[in-house]
Amino acid sequence: MDQNELNKLLSKLKLGSIRYFDSLGSTNDEALAWATSGAKDMSLIVADEQTMGRGRYDRPWFTPPGTALAFSLILRPALEERPHLSRLVGLAALSIAQAIQARGLYPEVKWPNDVLLNRRKVAGVLIELVWSGEDVENVVIGVGVNITKRSVPSTDILRFPATSLEDALGKPVERGEILYDILAAFISLRPQLGTDNLIKQWEKVLAYQGRQVQVEMGGGQTVTGKVAGLESDGSLKLRDEDGKPVTVRFGDVRLRPFA
Ligand code: ATP
Ligand code: BTN
Repeated sequence: MDQNELNKLLSKLKLGSIRYFDSLGSTNDEALAWATSGAKDMSLIVADEQTMGRGRYDRPWFTPPGTALAFSLILRPALEERPHLSRLVGLAALSIAQAIQARGLYPEVKWPNDVLLNRRKVAGVLIELVWSGEDVENVVIGVGVNITKRSVPSTDILRFPATSLEDALGKPVERGEILYDILAAFISLRPQLGTDNLIKQWEKVLAYQGRQVQVEMGGGQTVTGKVAGLESDGSLKLRDEDGKPVTVRFGDVRLRPFA
């Protein structure tokens, strides 16, 4: 992959500018800097390798060269999108899921930000906001997808089992094609950001529906219940053992199937 190839590959999509790097600390850091210096809506940063890739709460995200898809998309949300920014993580995860479904696989979204294949993590989304006073001026949507077997970290650094598209498909995958399909899905889903339909589509791919899960909150608190769907802002709905609804809001939450 290089800058020219990427420009050509993505030329049919309505994107802002595109920047390619052989190696970066984190595409999200580069995107945050570019966003504050005036990047256009839908500008894109792609890196072959990340040396400081991160997930939520600065947890490391492994991106060795030549193995994975690592990119960040910069949005300048329109006024009508601003009340719905909490749904962007779902929009991004759904776009990844659709690109994977197109290859005959059955991805699931582990709320809030991970995409699973065969109950293992194959992709993750990291959303970061750039504020101007009270308003969100830019949103950076970071996406990491494990493409080849070598993109999967060793089990000692994993908090949750991982896989790659190559592992799941049993054959090599062209990462440019996956990038194209994720971006095309994102562009076509974006107008639905504020609609019930987005929540319905997100629910359809939600992992552990009707199953017992345990959610660990940042402060050490734990909630157990059955997955019952999503609230309209994208928060997770559970039912506890008495059938009482419990809402899990976004934050430092860690969801696990409860055996
Ligand atoms: P969890 O994944 O444990 O449910 P989480 O969603 O909060 O928790 P994240 O912050 O989303 O975790 O993701 C970062 C974690 O992902 C790291 O702590 C690491 O265990 C794992 N990880 C790092 N690189 C990869 C990768 N390429 N593929 C899959 N998992 C990875
Ligand atoms: C997660 O599971 O927590 C999300 C992982 C997000 C990784 C992507 S790779 C591209 C972008 N740059 C980063 O440093 N992180 C995101």
